[in-house]
Order: sequence, then C-alpha cells, then structure tokens
Amino acid sequence: PAEDQARVAEIKQLLQAHNAVLVAHYYTDDAIQQLAEETGGCVADSLEMARFGARHDATTLVVAGVRFMGETAKILSPEKRVLMPTLEATCSLDIGCPVDEFSAFCDANPDRTVVVYANTSAAVKARADWVVTSSIAVEVIEHLQAKGEKILWAPDKHLGGYIQKKTGADMLMWDGACIVHEEFKAKGIEDLKRLYPDAAVLVHPESPDSVVNMADVAGSTSQLIKAAQTLPNNKLIVATDRGIFFKMQQAVPDKVLFEAPTAGNGATCRSCAHCPWMAMNELDNLAGALRHGSGEIHVDASLRQRALKPLERMLNFNA
Ligand code: 13P
Ligand code: SF4
Repeated sequence: PAEDQARVAEIKQLLQAHNAVLVAHYYTDDAIQQLAEETGGCVADSLEMARFGARHDATTLVVAGVRFMGETAKILSPEKRVLMPTLEATCSLDIGCPVDEFSAFCDANPDRTVVVYANTSAAVKARADWVVTSSIAVEVIEHLQAKGEKILWAPDKHLGGYIQKKTGADMLMWDGACIVHEEFKAKGIEDLKRLYPDAAVLVHPESPDSVVNMADVAGSTSQLIKAAQTLPNNKLIVATDRGIFFKMQQAVPDKVLFEAPTAGNGATCRSCAHCPWMAMNELDNLAGALRHGSGEIHVDASLRQRALKPLERMLNFNA
C-alpha cells in the first residue's frame, strides 16, 4: 500500500538522520525484515542480532523483536541509544521467569552452574553464570558437563529437555515454555509426512519433545534457514513462527515450504504459529520510535555489569 511505501521512505531517512541501524528478528513482519536488509541492518537469530548490534558503529540501534533482544543490545552497548518500536513486546519465557522466584531457585541450589536462555530479563541474566541462545546451547552445556558441572537451567523446559537428551547433562529445570512453539503437534506433522513422505522436518527446539523427535534438523532460526539450503529435500515442513518463511523462501526459492500444523487433528492451520509480541512491531511504531526517541531501553548500571558477564561468556564461546 501507498502508506507503507511512504512510511518505509520516512524510516530510511530517519535511520540516516539519526546514524541508526535496524536490527530485526526473523519473526517480525516481512516489511520490517526487508527494510533492515535494504538499509544495511540485519535480519538474524537472537545470537547474531546481539553480535551485529555490539559490533556495529551506529550510535542508535533500533531493535525490532522482543524486549529481551533490546535489553541484550543495551547491556552489550551501553554507549549506544537502543530503541524499540514498542516496549510492550515481551516473551512468555521472560514473563514466566520472575527474578525473585528465580533467585530463590538459584539460592536453593548453590552447587549448580546457572545457565539461562537469552529469552529472559536483564535481572534474571544478572543472576546467571552463562547466557545461551538455542544456536549454541548444546555446545555450552557439553562444555560445562565435560568440566563435571551440574546445571540449573531456565526457563524453557522444552529446550532444556532437548539439551539434556543430547548431552546427558545433569540439569535441574525451570518450568517455562514458549506459547507459540508449544502449540505444534506431532500428530499433525505425521499426517503431513504421510502426504509428503519425502519432506524433511525442521523444528525449533522450543517445541515439545514429541515434535523435536520428528525433526531432521532442530536448531535456531538461522540454523533452520541454513538447513533448508543444505538438505537435499525439495519439500520442507517447518515448525517455528511463520515469520521465518520470508527469508527461508528467499533462500530456497524452488523448494516447497509447509507450516507445521498446530492443530492436533492434522488439519493444516495456515499462519497459526505467530508470536503475538513479535507482531507488535509495525512500520508505524518503528517510525515513531525514531521520530520521537520513544521506546528507549534503559538498564540500571549495576544490573548491567552483572548481566554483562554471562552474556560475554556466550559471545566469547567459540568466537
Ligand atoms: P532464535 O535464537 O532461534 O532466533 O530464537 C529466538 C526466539 O525467540 C525463538 O522463539
Ligand atoms: Fe518468546 Fe516464543 Fe515469542 Fe520467541 S516466539 S519471543 S520464545 S513467545
């Protein structure tokens, strides 16, 4: 639509005027992902977003994603202004892991190394020894296990269960879940596989284990896009937020992509899997953030110092 085009032109101008760069997640709207690409920003998984923002020399980072991504950017780059289209965009994993209860859990298990998923508040990260994203979680836990460490893991029980199964590590788990990925149903994928036996199954490990068990490849959003390119299969069943189809289809224009069903009866439910918080990022509020400097992320200085250590461990791991 014409208004969108005008908005895109305005945002491009504002990004330049403010020496700003757009850092977007794959689950945001296609128009936002395209804008990030066209303006020298990035469209990436959560680990790559963190790396890109930390290394970029812009003075303002505009983070289109959810709150923990903006906080991570600010913790890594306190000298930069970090703006988000809306500060309301949270995550069910972050909501489900309040810092007071989490601290009590850590206090009750002082012999365990605390590893938290990036999908947490700055305050929860400040209590952790390590932060990980799904793209390096297995490697980090393998590393800690090899040193004989016992793990306290939070908050995603599905990702935690997947890592535990892969590594055999001793992991005490928090009981959290992603409301989007938790809805994928193994039965629906089985029915699709029956229709398309030569299709490969790509799964984000925030999904339940019955679904991850069906995966040819499980991994972060970037890893799933890479797998779409490297697997020989021409048909792919994809169990993650539908936002990923924009970049995945660009990467494999000749392949047929199917959304993994979220309905247990096997009926394919088009566009069901979409994070309501990622969807809050729009061209309008993105333009508004740049125009008014609204949606700025602030992280308390002492909290930042404590949250920085486990985040730096993540960034330096295998770097
Ligand atoms: P990725 O690190 O794979 O991008 O995952 C972030 C996320 O929120 C998935 O739901
Ligand atoms: Fe959080 Fe799930 Fe949304 Fe990712 S898709 S931001 S894990 S609620």
